[in-house]
Amino acid sequence: MRIFVAGAAGAIGQRLVPQLVAAGHQVTASTRRPDGQARLRAMGAEPAVMDGLDPAAVGEAVARARPEVVIHQMTALAGGTDLRHFDRSFAVTNRLRTEGTDHLLAAATAAGARRFIAQGFTGWSNIRSGGPVKTEQDPLDPDPPANQRQTLAGIRYLENVVPGAPGLEGIVLRYGALYGPGTANEVLGLTRQRKLPLVGEAGGVWSFLHTDDAAAATVAALTRGRPGVYNITDDEPAKVADWLPWLARELGAKPPMRLPVWLARLAAGEVAVSVLTQIRGSSNAKARAELDWVPSWASWRQGFLAVDAAERAGGPAGAARTAGKASGGMASGGMASGGMDSSGHS
Ligand SMILES: NC(=O)c1ccc[n+]([C@@H]2O[C@H](COP(=O)([O-])OP(=O)(O)OC[C@H]3O[C@@H](n4cnc5c(N)ncnc54)[C@H](OP(=O)(O)O)[C@@H]3O)[C@@H](O)[C@H]2O)c1
Repeated sequence: MRIFVAGAAGAIGQRLVPQLVAAGHQVTASTRRPDGQARLRAMGAEPAVMDGLDPAAVGEAVARARPEVVIHQMTALAGGTDLRHFDRSFAVTNRLRTEGTDHLLAAATAAGARRFIAQGFTGWSNIRSGGPVKTEQDPLDPDPPANQRQTLAGIRYLENVVPGAPGLEGIVLRYGALYGPGTANEVLGLTRQRKLPLVGEAGGVWSFLHTDDAAAATVAALTRGRPGVYNITDDEPAKVADWLPWLARELGAKPPMRLPVWLARLAAGEVAVSVLTQIRGSSNAKARAELDWVPSWASWRQGFLAVDAAERAGGPAGAARTAGKASGGMASGGMASGGMDSSGHS
């Protein structure tokens, strides 16, 4: 199959492109950087240079590739996330999820593509009332913290236009909080540095996802699944109160600080309080049933330990860290936090 991957050098793209090539697909992979082409070629793809916000460049690159499937993996999160200014951190990503999606959808349609798969997100975007784990039937948060409204609007836009795109089978894969090779593994770094506190009851529920499982779900969605949105998460949504102390212990780090909600709110703002105490997790049942996909890293427990072992051995999971990305804070496609140190400053 001929496949166009927009944003192929990112956390997911660099795990996805080799899987696509290994499955025998003919892959065109985009980057904005002319000097990034060699890396994409080394993965077995044909590189294309384009800025996703330039409609002419997108149109030309996609037309040249004549893809049957277009995959949108463009985000701009490498700088990390400032929780106090969440929407500001996501400003370019929000444009890529709205304007960038429009340009790519138009290009895919003009090139005669059959299917369009876009990177979405699940986690803090879920409604924060009712049960601890949400499905695709549950609404997005009707009242997110003020600082997340624009980012949620971007997610909402993507989830409306992609499945509804005329003439295309549009699928949004809502990836959970990513970790693994290609990412900065922020959660591990912040836990080691004791920058993630237990706030109040620490009842925020997180759904994690290993990058190789994100890539595998994307491969599954090439041929399976009806148009719509799919939560792509591991099998064990977990409260911060469960995963954070466990992780600190396993990493040999000091136990996390405890902070009252009022102090965390004062020190780090509403988004930090929300993700640590209020957010809900996400069920992967629909993806398992309709995409016939199962996460090979079924729980963050085994995944985090594997990443830690690889980082200690200086392996690929550690590469992003040594490249200096870990300190940028937990970008997490949105789940994020710059961390809070012992005095509660983010
Ligand atoms: N669900 C999640 O939790 C989630 C999702 C995504 C990312 N993240 C986290 O965010 C951090 C950074 O992610 P990342 O490494 O994927 O980097 P990123 O900066 O978000 O870039 C991702 C991809 O988007 C492309 N891109 C950025 N701006 C573009 C534009 N204007 N036009 C076209 N393409 C553009 C980049 O291409 P270039 O080659 O041109 O730079 C790259 O291939 C990682 O730690 C990751 O874990 C988390």
